[in-house]
Amino acid sequence: MCGIVGYTGFQDAYDIVINGLRRLEYRGYDSAGIVLEGSNNKLEVEKTKGKVDDLVNISKELKGTAKIGMGHTRWATHGVPSDRNSHPHLSNNGKIAIVHNGIIENYDTIKKMLSEKGFTFQSETDTEVLVNLIQYFMDLNPEIDFPTAVRYALNEVYGAYAITVLHEDYPGILVVGRLGSPLAIGIGDKEYFIASDASPFVEFTKEAIYLEEGHMATISLENGVDIRTITENSKIQPEIQQLKLNLEQIEKGGYEHFMLKEIFEQPKSVHDTMRGRLLVDEGIIKMAGIWDHLERFKNANRIIIIACGTSWHAGLIGEYLIEEYARIPVEVEYASEFRYRNPIITDKDVVIAISQSGETADTMAALKLAKEKGAFIYGICNVVDSSIARITDAGSYTHAGPEIGVASTKAFTAQLTILTLIAFKLGKHNGNLGNADFMSLIAELDAIPKRIEEVLNTTHEQIKEIAKDFVETTNFLYLGRGYNYPAALEGALKLKEISYIHAEGYPAAEMKHGPIALIDENMPIVIIAPKRGHYDKIVSNVQEIKARKGKIIAVVNKGDRQVSEMADYVIEIPETSECFSPIVASVPLQLLAYYIAVYRGANVDQPRNLAKSVTVE
Ligand code: F6R
Repeated sequence: MCGIVGYTGFQDAYDIVINGLRRLEYRGYDSAGIVLEGSNNKLEVEKTKGKVDDLVNISKELKGTAKIGMGHTRWATHGVPSDRNSHPHLSNNGKIAIVHNGIIENYDTIKKMLSEKGFTFQSETDTEVLVNLIQYFMDLNPEIDFPTAVRYALNEVYGAYAITVLHEDYPGILVVGRLGSPLAIGIGDKEYFIASDASPFVEFTKEAIYLEEGHMATISLENGVDIRTITENSKIQPEIQQLKLNLEQIEKGGYEHFMLKEIFEQPKSVHDTMRGRLLVDEGIIKMAGIWDHLERFKNANRIIIIACGTSWHAGLIGEYLIEEYARIPVEVEYASEFRYRNPIITDKDVVIAISQSGETADTMAALKLAKEKGAFIYGICNVVDSSIARITDAGSYTHAGPEIGVASTKAFTAQLTILTLIAFKLGKHNGNLGNADFMSLIAELDAIPKRIEEVLNTTHEQIKEIAKDFVETTNFLYLGRGYNYPAALEGALKLKEISYIHAEGYPAAEMKHGPIALIDENMPIVIIAPKRGHYDKIVSNVQEIKARKGKIIAVVNKGDRQVSEMADYVIEIPETSECFSPIVASVPLQLLAYYIAVYRGANVDQPRNLAKSVTVE
């Protein structure tokens, strides 16, 4: 949700900023901008509606002109995507430039106050208000310096932000601040990088400081990185971390899109999620986060799973898993609803937050509430050291590697893998899962990466062909039962977000309570019908669809006859225990959504109106 890049050092700032913005474009891509501090210290700004490529078209002359600068790629919140609303924004005196990720919630009050003092505004953004508030404090107190004015301004605003600010009268200095949106500072040799995540600078340095909530930093080649608390101005000793990220992980590696690369990475990512945790020969699941708090889980009144989007779908499958194997009651909540409905939470509850990015504002807000009420908070995040990972009491990283395609794929199957491990671990510990069943389930889980590989090998070419028949389709239904009902929801979400085809997921049996009215010869219905999982009931549902001439795309187990005979298209996946079928069945659904979107000419990695990490509520 907006990407920020900043640089000061000996290299060409234009190249660093532009290349960095390309890597962060997954965070937002409706406009882009750059500001450089040229040799005469004048701030040179270029910005435009559109993508980083559009920015390059209008800004090439800035190349080679500066060693310090910053840029922004935007996901619009306040104000439509337009040249005027693009960042960077300048203060009225033209001396201060800002780039911002997040939302200043009280911007309207501040805007009124500044307007009364004679400030004018070129854009509809909250960000332009903040940069003028900084100028206001400097005009008001000529004795305070630029970083102090930024601090004063940040103390007046509430909401969420990661900002980087430059001031023409303070050459060589970048001031950054963070509350609720991530910001990393890369420490190079005689150079510093700033970015919303480490990907823009990973080829230059492996050392980074992740700015903490409520901290700001003044960065210059002369004085290094000076970190302070925003409220008290207390000096903070930076904690330098070694990055594990490498360049290969954030490049497409020969695939046309990140999404396809990430779909194909799933045998490895699921394996990586289990690595060191699932020790089949020893018959144990080793998860420090769970191990240290087993009693807390065992004695929980209930487990509440909080998440959004795809992660919420993983949570629904988690509910099936944990209730079946550990027999602990589970509720799954949309984070955005949970937060605002005055939920009953006690200190006997365990809350599991699932978030790929670890930055989702809705999930974060819900967690904070649960924490205040004394619940034990467990995080399942992909991004190491993300905001959610930091505020939880314990947790497990999914270790799926960076997910760059906006539509989540490998993070989803990694989340399912962690939830499976948790369910089996808790079930074994509290005696609901006997040793023989436990041993056979973990052996099967261990082989799931191979099953995924098999699905990729056997269905890829076939799905490419099937997808061609649905390029003009306007509606889709996805149906599944039991564990595969959430898998149907996820299949539908994948299709709608990248192809813009309207798609709905339903429990197959619910069809007769309404959606069946939609079925005619123009309605494709994807039905997930593995052998183990209410198969007979699904057969009846398929008959009902057939009787109404719906076009059936069936995901079935190898050797299936009954459903396959009725289906127009048959996609075969290997047979597994029911609890593993959503992992295996999701892979062909991801491919189907991907190819339909590609044939429709959609920008698969950057679907319209979406962004990878949603840091506004
Ligand atoms: C869908 C998708 C979104 C995210 C949702 C939560 O493909 O990616 O629905 O799942 O925005 O994001 P995280 O998991 O980062 O909290």
